[in-house]
Amino acid sequence: MRDATPEQNQTVYLKDYTPVPVTVSHVALSFRLDPQATRVSARLTCKRKGSGDMVLDGEMLKLLSIAIDGVPLAADRYSRTDTTLTLYDAPDSFVLETEVEIAPEDNKALSGLYMSKGMYCTQCEAEGFRRITYMLDRPDVMATYDVEIGGDLPVRLSNGNETGPGTWHDPWPKPTYLFALVAGDLLATSDRFTTSEGRDVTLNVWVRPGDEGLTAFAMDSLKRSMTWDEEVYGRPYDLSVFNIVAVDDFNMGAMENKGLNIFNSKYVLASPATATDADFANIESIVAHEYFHNWTGNRITCRDWFQLCLKEGLTVFRDQQFSQDERGFATQRIGDVLNLRARQFREDAGPLAHPVRPESFVEINNFYTATIYEKGAELIGMLRTLVGPKGYDAGCALYFERHDGDAATIEDWLACFETATGRDLSQFKLWYAQAGTPRVQVSETFKDGIYRIDLKQIVPDTPGQTDKCPMHIPLAFGLLSQDGTETQATQVHELTTETGSMTFEMSAKPVLSILRGFSAPVILEFEQTESDRLTLLAHDSDPFNRWEAGRVLAKDRLMRAVTKDAGFDDAWLNAVAALATDELADPAFRALALALPSEDDLAQSLYGAGVVPDPDRIYAVRRAAQLAIAARLRDALPGLRDAMATPGNYDPKAEDAGKRALAGRLLGLQTMLDGGVAARTAYDAADNMTDRMAAFANLLEAGDTTVAKQFENDWQHDRLVMDKWFMAQVAHAAPRDAVTLADTLTRHPDFDASNPNRFRSLMAGLTAGNPAGFHNPDGSGYKFLADWLLYLDKSNPQTTARMSTAFDGWKRYDADRQDLMRAQLQRISGTEGLSRDLSEMVTRMLK
Ligand code: PHE
Ligand code: ZN
Repeated sequence: MRDATPEQNQTVYLKDYTPVPVTVSHVALSFRLDPQATRVSARLTCKRKGSGDMVLDGEMLKLLSIAIDGVPLAADRYSRTDTTLTLYDAPDSFVLETEVEIAPEDNKALSGLYMSKGMYCTQCEAEGFRRITYMLDRPDVMATYDVEIGGDLPVRLSNGNETGPGTWHDPWPKPTYLFALVAGDLLATSDRFTTSEGRDVTLNVWVRPGDEGLTAFAMDSLKRSMTWDEEVYGRPYDLSVFNIVAVDDFNMGAMENKGLNIFNSKYVLASPATATDADFANIESIVAHEYFHNWTGNRITCRDWFQLCLKEGLTVFRDQQFSQDERGFATQRIGDVLNLRARQFREDAGPLAHPVRPESFVEINNFYTATIYEKGAELIGMLRTLVGPKGYDAGCALYFERHDGDAATIEDWLACFETATGRDLSQFKLWYAQAGTPRVQVSETFKDGIYRIDLKQIVPDTPGQTDKCPMHIPLAFGLLSQDGTETQATQVHELTTETGSMTFEMSAKPVLSILRGFSAPVILEFEQTESDRLTLLAHDSDPFNRWEAGRVLAKDRLMRAVTKDAGFDDAWLNAVAALATDELADPAFRALALALPSEDDLAQSLYGAGVVPDPDRIYAVRRAAQLAIAARLRDALPGLRDAMATPGNYDPKAEDAGKRALAGRLLGLQTMLDGGVAARTAYDAADNMTDRMAAFANLLEAGDTTVAKQFENDWQHDRLVMDKWFMAQVAHAAPRDAVTLADTLTRHPDFDASNPNRFRSLMAGLTAGNPAGFHNPDGSGYKFLADWLLYLDKSNPQTTARMSTAFDGWKRYDADRQDLMRAQLQRISGTEGLSRDLSEMVTRMLK
């Protein structure tokens, strides 16, 4: 056998894509499971497509035997590195047989085959299959699978249909990243579903014994998702069984393996006593997301990892549509935009900015980002706006027909819409290539009966990209008269050049409602008059813009309070109070309208406006604003809260959740006034986790010293609830105490950094939940995070690299804080033996 040295930290480029010379059409796998010495036998049916050696991927595999067409392979016919196996002079068509040994118990990276609380499970996206056996571990190689799982574990699952105990056949060709295996002592909640084609499907949600009472909502969400995808996209399910498995140790949210979705247990298990309304909403949307991948991701997959947004952006868009249908358009859309701005706009404004379709990467796991997922979904939404709902349906239908069974590209996707609708999407395609959030400047004039809107777009420079071209921006807008009546219903103006304008003949200046429904992921710069904004807040028929008007008014106040020490004026406080008490408005909407922009949102906006954000000042100003609102509502608060009571059995549906959300906001205001008296009563009376967490957070904010212990005593048996306990304490600590508390909690017997949920709860409690604490001017927050990143990187690089993004805003801050953060980033980057994941992240952040 010849030897070669692998190349570390190599950059992979989209432009270098080349098809494989030899492909694999069928994979037969046989597993003999053992924690330290699992044997994997593989038979790959291979066929030559072009000239060249066959280079298979494999990592941390002990090769026991290798043969072609049953004949052991001579040492000069192949070579190996740490990451590859190359076959020389492979015949035109042959069967490659290998046997390897792996140690799932030692796999703490949670990629490949690993163990979680005694059960075996796999995670193969993006490149985990190569840690199981030698194979062409890339998405454009699609094969059918036969899998045999030996041994006597009671439950043995893989993809496709079960053909005997522990044997599975998957008839649908799939890439390696969709392979899955689960084995252990598990219990199923089962149900049935009959598809529109008449296929009878068994549905199972598998959990560890003890958790079987927590699966009902996930199962219900699955059935509603299956129905929705048939009704809205015409996509039925295609196997006789659909399995979901809950796993406690998981790096991400969930995984769409064909017929065998594997979930972080946080996104499956729920009961009213242990899960909040937000948890229920997450379970519903993630179950839907993974199920929808069966068509957008699995039946049609990605040619290469640069096309990741082809499956993720589209599938996020689909799960957002589903949640809008299930829970109400306005609240869902507002929530999605809040999330987009908090995570994606932040990413787009910093050193990690990248296009929705990147052109290069070092470690693909670092590109499961808000840009690829959430901005990717916005691109689908814009496309739908541009071609209209009918055009969108026609384009999707063509995509499913033309590309079923393919590993496709963004070009393939867009071509379907060009063919189906006749539209030229070449400028639209820039959205996939140009990073950064465009700014759209709007100005208006009214003179001699002519109302004129002027528009200008600015596409900012981002790392590696300057001097960008104008984008194709759909701007949905409407006009209102000064008294709030809509005089022009929503229309879409397409801004395709750097500047544009619109004129209207009118007798009086109208009120402009622009970017309705957030029709494009842009930052609007529009010095609209105060009275126009108040008119929109009171009357806009577009619920998103009605909320947005209130948001802009609040943000204005908070920014001026930070920069000019301005107080909070009556006009604003009265408008907020009017909304809070408006009994005709939906409680969920009122709760959203009462929420002030987050500390990070303000930091980002201040930085965008050329002001260096001071985290302590932002923290103080937000609290002052809350106190002012609370004082204005003082007399109304108790009655308002009583009106939001949801007596009777807990119902996770949107209507009651909206009431609880508003009640929680009002409790926050009341706590500003009474120091925690009402929160204590609410905590003791809570009969569901939503109310309990709201009361808990408020008691912590009020400085209560007993509730944390009480909560712990009540819930220490429940790991998912304890994740909330770790997070909330750090997030709601006084900023100066946050790092010390976080550090103390890392020594709590239940803190286990090897469990990603626990690690993230504590770390994100500080970095995202308590910005003023994380940015403690003494630098202790930065050192604390860096210490833990260096510690966890040795075993779990994926989760570590993801958490390192807490540093991505470092250039926003004052020189002292910048120095402190840079020093920690440099310390990390100078450490010997860093993972490829973390090394790429710190390199990009330091550039
Ligand atoms: N593909 C998964 C999803 O979006 C996410 C994921 C990526 C999970 C990588 C695990 C590893 O649903
Ligand atoms: Zn996905």
